[in-house]
Amino acid sequence: MIDTPTRRAVLGAGVFAAGSLFRIDGSLAQAPLPPTPECRDSDEMTLRQTEGPYFKPSSPERVELIEVGMAGQPIELVGFVLSRACKPLPGALLDFWQADDRGQYDNSGFHLRGHQFSDAEGRYRLRSIVPGAYVGRTRHIHVKVQPSGGRLLTTQLYFPGEPKNRSDGLFRRELLLRMTKNAGLLAGRFDFVLD
Ligand SMILES: [Fe+2]
Repeated sequence: MIDTPTRRAVLGAGVFAAGSLFRIDGSLAQAPLPPTPECRDSDEMTLRQTEGPYFKPSSPERVELIEVGMAGQPIELVGFVLSRACKPLPGALLDFWQADDRGQYDNSGFHLRGHQFSDAEGRYRLRSIVPGAYVGRTRHIHVKVQPSGGRLLTTQLYFPGEPKNRSDGLFRRELLLRMTKNAGLLAGRFDFVLD
């Protein structure tokens, strides 16, 4: 079992360390969840991509992948899981896995791996670090998304402005996170549209 800060610890800590996105207990501040889905292209399903060689089943259920002492730029990913008719899908499974700050996956344990379920409004929230690029790959986060009783989507999310996006054959701009900063917290928005 990996020791991660609890939500109670996040809410109870309260004070920012100077120049850091971390609170003094090592946990992260929260960006607001998105109020509305983005459905301009609601007919367009989120693109499928290969799962690659590093997926592991049975990840722990958690939204917080950052552990005390973990290197890397903290980031919060937020968004909706939606049907093609732009209907929010509560209870959808989202299973995330990614490389660490140096571009390495934890293949013996479950660091930077975790699954969760979308909330009653179809929203998800993941707190993690920006993954490092590795040989042949630009920065990316892997995810499997499955609506309750529906078909599984496997894909990858990408970061805007990365030089290696141009040389990575898997990169697709449709899978770019939309980056914002909320009170200094780096946040990425992506809404999944499922069949
Ligand atoms: Fe990967």
